[in-house]
Amino acid sequence: MPREITRVGVVGLGAMGAGIAQLCVEARVETVGREVTLDLAERARDRIAHFLTRKVEKGTLEEAARDDAVGRLTLTTELAELAGCDLVIEAIVEELEPKRRLFAELEPVVGPDAVLATNTSALSVTEIGAATERPERVLGMHFFNPAPLMPLVEIVRAELTAEDAFETAYAFGTRLGKTPIRCHDTPGFVVNRVLIPLLNDCVRVLDEARVTPEDLDVGMKNGAGWPMGPCELIDLVGIDVHVHAAEALWEKLREPRMAAPPRLVAMANAGLLGRKTGRGFFQYDQR
Ligand code: 3HC
Repeated sequence: MPREITRVGVVGLGAMGAGIAQLCVEARVETVGREVTLDLAERARDRIAHFLTRKVEKGTLEEAARDDAVGRLTLTTELAELAGCDLVIEAIVEELEPKRRLFAELEPVVGPDAVLATNTSALSVTEIGAATERPERVLGMHFFNPAPLMPLVEIVRAELTAEDAFETAYAFGTRLGKTPIRCHDTPGFVVNRVLIPLLNDCVRVLDEARVTPEDLDVGMKNGAGWPMGPCELIDLVGIDVHVHAAEALWEKLREPRMAAPPRLVAMANAGLLGRKTGRGFFQYDQR
């Protein structure tokens, strides 16, 4: 039986964490958002308030409902503030060691039955869970960018995940209005196992076919029905996030298509990270 969730913690309020926190407060769940500085946390709350205000302006949300939703989000820099959470969703930097450290620090803070979820894109949920004393309660809840708009959440069963924790996360995904799918902890799970090598291919084609990013995007939107072109999509996901995920898949699978194309690695090294830095394949106004 899924357990009842009354309070959720979200650790890391970058684009994904803020999107997940937005979903939680819109689903009327008390939410504690943790960032390393209050300034970063407040920026995430402003971003959530901005998107909810757009809904009010478009007539899909009442003003009072927006205020209630924003009011359900508590900000903190202290992990100890997550003590009363039934579920904690981690969305920090996409690197194994910081995630393992966080889970080890988080475990003694929360109650023994709290479910601990990682939003990792391509790291092993089992390896993250192995940093805890009770890996039965650790699983993946993998949302897609932008989390408030993309319907899917992958519920990832690690080697030692217990059935009740898994079904609790699945039911919570439904409560957030998402379409959850159940999958196992294999590299890239379901969607990224397919999407990351495909996006890598798209970047390689830029050089091979001597096509511009603009034309490649036009091609994939109009010739393959993609809602967004691959260059625009990688800019949205973040060049660094994509490179990390591709490297993680390459590490595990050793398939050449998984390896990040040098062009993307160079962009990441140059700080051209996509929308979040205002420049990737394309230029953006920052917000
Ligand atoms: N958070 C919250 N709300 C947002 C938002 C965000 N990041 N971005 C936009 N919105 C809101 C805005 O208020 C916007 O309205 P406004 O422009 O009037 O203010 C509203 O949503 C609608 O936005 P759009 O008009 O841009 O919506 P579209 O109909 O164009 O659809 C899309 C946008 C859903 C992103 C669509 O382009 C799409 O499906 N793109 C593909 C995205 C995709 O493939 N994502 C997966 C990436 S892979 C991944 O995440 C895996 C990871 O592990 C790497």
